[in-house]
Amino acid sequence: MEYKSIAIDGPSGAGKSTMAKALAARLGFLYVDTGAIYRTLGLFARNSGADPGDWRQVEPLLAGVSIRMDYAGDGLQHMYLGDEDVTEAIRRPEISDAASKISAIPEVRTFLMEMQRDMARRHHVVMDGRDIGTVVLPEADLKIFLTASTQERARRRCAELQQRGTPVDYETVLADIIERDDRDSNRAAAPLRQAEDAIPVDTSGKSLEESLRILLQVVEERFS
Ligand code: DC
Repeated sequence: MEYKSIAIDGPSGAGKSTMAKALAARLGFLYVDTGAIYRTLGLFARNSGADPGDWRQVEPLLAGVSIRMDYAGDGLQHMYLGDEDVTEAIRRPEISDAASKISAIPEVRTFLMEMQRDMARRHHVVMDGRDIGTVVLPEADLKIFLTASTQERARRRCAELQQRGTPVDYETVLADIIERDDRDSNRAAAPLRQAEDAIPVDTSGKSLEESLRILLQVVEERFS
């Protein structure tokens, strides 16, 4: 059976996970959050006492790490580090930073690539990340590049952190987003950029419903 794939790339806080999740639910596809995989490795590096930004400290850890993705139970993507469910733990702001740093290491990207491609070989997927349309699934059936203004992304991230019960002030979140954008876009290995054949969608000033409506229209046009 030929499986369909939709790649959604874009900077932090553009609404990728919300949109991808909603789209996957509508289409009956599996939602694969690839950032969660990098976050899990970032958590592992921190737990191991390694500096996630130093490849010399990270590379030797790769042989001993056990990262697993599981959709059993509630149908949502759970991340496991060994036997431990770290789905919630990887959302902490310090893990966002560790994931961004660790994801700039080429050996890390190669190491995690197969796990991502394997999901697309076995399921219809909506996969979100930074390099899905450019590197992980260059043959994806549809590629979307989702953006929003930096200020709006910071506001959304603040609301999300507040909802999780871990509020962080706006200025700190904004500075963090600017720093992560810079690192994710300017790294040598698979930087964040729009694939040539991706459809750009700017969600600034749009409600979730409006953004989802636009995406569903794009999907319908491509798949009909
Ligand atoms: O989407 P996110 O914020 O959960 O991702 C965390 C970090 O992981 C982000 O700063 C960049 C990195 N990442 C990546 O380099 N490639 C991906 N496909 C997904 C995430």
